[in-house]
Amino acid sequence: MTAFIIAALTADGFIAKNVSHTPMEWTSKEDKRFFMERTKQAGVVVFGQNTYETIGKPLPGRHNVVYSRDKAYEGVEVTQKEPLVLLEDLEKRGFKEVAVCGGSAIYTMFMEAGVVNTLYLSIEPVLFGKGMTLFNKELDKKLQLVSIEKLGENTILVEYNII
Ligand SMILES: NC(=O)c1ccc[n+]([C@@H]2O[C@H](COP(=O)([O-])OP(=O)(O)OC[C@H]3O[C@@H](n4cnc5c(N)ncnc54)[C@H](OP(=O)(O)O)[C@@H]3O)[C@@H](O)[C@H]2O)c1
Repeated sequence: MTAFIIAALTADGFIAKNVSHTPMEWTSKEDKRFFMERTKQAGVVVFGQNTYETIGKPLPGRHNVVYSRDKAYEGVEVTQKEPLVLLEDLEKRGFKEVAVCGGSAIYTMFMEAGVVNTLYLSIEPVLFGKGMTLFNKELDKKLQLVSIEKLGENTILVEYNII
């Protein structure tokens, strides 16, 4: 079982202006296409409750898992499992790859658990000045650059492996 983080960043390093600010409002069509194709290839998408609320419905063609302590959603697996336990459980059900789709709390929880193999970061040509960062706790990780791709006229996609 492998897990990757997939996120869109502004050129000044933010994932959102605030908790209710969805990437749908500011990311490029090329990034949206990459997100759809790569997450469908993985088969499982994992969100935190705040991020799921900005989407509002399950993403079609993928098994949707949402972290929440008290919410229930139709067509979605709601969980409170430790990341490693969730991944083992999904593997038993035949899934091979999981897309960790944010937000900050969920990216941080999976990174701290040491279960993330790869980061896909799309850098979009916008600046927020301040906002939410990819992670919300101190981390000390080293990365290996796998590839840089020009996704669209103004968007680059960077793939890193976690060492
Ligand atoms: N730019 C991008 O690519 C990108 C991608 C994704 C999200 N975002 C943005 O990120 C922002 C949201 O990030 P966020 O950090 O505020 O929230 P989040 O990670 O989406 O969700 C946090 C919520 O997840 C639940 N949760 C967290 N840990 C849990 C655990 N161990 N067990 C059970 N439930 C747990 C809690 O919900 P309960 O209160 O229900 O327990 C918590 O309030 C939004 O603005 C969103 O648009 C940006």
